[in-house]
Amino acid sequence: MANVMSTVLVVGASGSIGRPAVAESLGAGYETRALVRDEAQADRFPEGTRVVVGDLTDAETLRDAVRGVTGIVFTHGSHGGAQEAEAVDYGAVRNILSVLDAPARIALMTAIGVTKHTPGHDWKRRGERLVRASGLPYTIVRPGWFDYNTPDQHRLVMLQGDTRWASDPSDGVIARTQIAQVLVGSLTSDAATRKTLELVAENGPAQTDLDPLFAALRADPAGALDGVLDRDNMPLDQEPAGVVAELDAVRGRF
Ligand SMILES: NC(=O)c1ccc[n+]([C@@H]2O[C@H](COP(=O)([O-])OP(=O)(O)OC[C@H]3O[C@@H](n4cnc5c(N)ncnc54)[C@H](OP(=O)(O)O)[C@@H]3O)[C@@H](O)[C@H]2O)c1
Repeated sequence: MANVMSTVLVVGASGSIGRPAVAESLGAGYETRALVRDEAQADRFPEGTRVVVGDLTDAETLRDAVRGVTGIVFTHGSHGGAQEAEAVDYGAVRNILSVLDAPARIALMTAIGVTKHTPGHDWKRRGERLVRASGLPYTIVRPGWFDYNTPDQHRLVMLQGDTRWASDPSDGVIARTQIAQVLVGSLTSDAATRKTLELVAENGPAQTDLDPLFAALRADPAGALDGVLDRDNMPLDQEPAGVVAELDAVRGRF
């Protein structure tokens, strides 16, 4: 049975994936909320978008944005060092989940290579772990390099295990619009539930039906912190105490 989707919140809506995700959500007929930190960004969105203002680093400012949503698409991301990654990449997920008042379907974008340790990757991966621990239905999408695809590279390929660690476009490429399609499309796909995937495109036309692609993937085991085929290289007993406490806080909230 397909999930009932009516109201979608796009986090990081002003960003390079957020904007096409808003368009995709509107196109799917959902009431679409674009979460921005600066009200002046309101005119970036198509007519019909509901712009909501909040600071991703401050949970209390996010309550109105999440009230009544049935789906959340996380497309935010920082470009700075470890502190910004903690506050924004991880903090946005923690803060949104902490004020969410009813279950919602989650689509979270992180990055290909996220399991290769860097301060930024580690905080994105901790955000993934919060989503898995929450018990909410989710899909985690780790895209390759944005818009490095050639004009004939649109055939979507979903990978698992996060084995591509070159940290350059040889890891895979993908159009921003296709990332948005997969994120929004996952919200109503039962086949996408509890799946973690790397998303790239190869030569060939885009597929019209995403379900067979999602269906071919392995689901993350219930209760697992990492993607089903991920390397086991971030042991919980070596994680910061605050991170462990925040995982405990989100478990069983829904
Ligand atoms: N480029 C690639 O090939 C690639 C591949 C895979 C993954 N990624 C990851 O994708 C993420 C997004 O990249 P992008 O190019 O789409 O970035 P972007 O266009 O700058 O979008 C980032 C979004 O996050 C929001 N944001 C950033 N810092 C914030 C803060 N302190 N408080 C509130 N909102 C904040 C931005 O809001 P404002 O508009 O208000 O700044 C914007 O909406 C990055 O973290 C990157 O690591 C990139």
